[in-house]
Amino acid sequence: MRILFIGDVVGSLGRDQLKSYLPQLKQKYQPQLTIVNGENAAAGKGITEKIYKQCLEWGADFLTMGNHTFDKRDIFDFIDSADKMVRPANFPEGTPGKGIGYVNVNGTEVAIINLQGRTFLPPIEDPFRYADKLVEEAKQRTNTIFVDFHAEATSEKLALAWYLDGRVSAVVGTHTHVQTADNRLLDNGTAYITDVGMTGPYDGIIGTDREAVLKRFLTQLPVRFEAAKSGKVQLSGVVIDIDNKTGKASKIDRILINDDHPFFG
Ligand SMILES: [Fe+2]
Ligand SMILES: [Fe+2]
Repeated sequence: MRILFIGDVVGSLGRDQLKSYLPQLKQKYQPQLTIVNGENAAAGKGITEKIYKQCLEWGADFLTMGNHTFDKRDIFDFIDSADKMVRPANFPEGTPGKGIGYVNVNGTEVAIINLQGRTFLPPIEDPFRYADKLVEEAKQRTNTIFVDFHAEATSEKLALAWYLDGRVSAVVGTHTHVQTADNRLLDNGTAYITDVGMTGPYDGIIGTDREAVLKRFLTQLPVRFEAAKSGKVQLSGVVIDIDNKTGKASKIDRILINDDHPFFG
């Protein structure tokens, strides 16, 4: 099983990148499953039903989310019927949506789990205990378990990965929007990267309009943050190879496409 995962798609530039590169990436890497983090897909914050459906049309099989899941009001109208989307599982009980989903890929079931960190993010439920619970549930059905851990702190991400090593196929970090170069296989077969990075404006500051972010830092005044709408763009992702039977990963490679790292098909 080969999984292609694309990191946080940010705004219209990110969506354009996804649409134009997914066919080429699929051609090059031949993944059986493509998962996209869509938490910033609508103007940098949240997602709409229209964009959720577009991502699926463009070639995503499943979407994961993060701390921006509920930023667009539209989400409440469709998240409970969006069977190809997960939001962080450790949101408080009663939150709409679900944190674990399953897809059948040519007879192999894949569990997709989304969790969110608590360091420098809202103090939601314990992602480690939630991971235990969800992995146990997933194991009843499959060994192939993919985890998108949406978190700020490197140590929290690495800690969860080691905690789950050998129990899940992959723990990929999202949220910081900057790709880390620490992709590796842990001792017991879990593929890991601290952050996959984001897909969208390369000229902004982690996807947000540069002028607005600078103004905030220079003045500390409230500034409206919006996804950068023009300028250079990038795409960030990883490709993970997993043994269908054991669920252990054998490879995790990074994909980074921008002006400084051109794409060779
Ligand atoms: Fe994000
Ligand atoms: Fe985030």
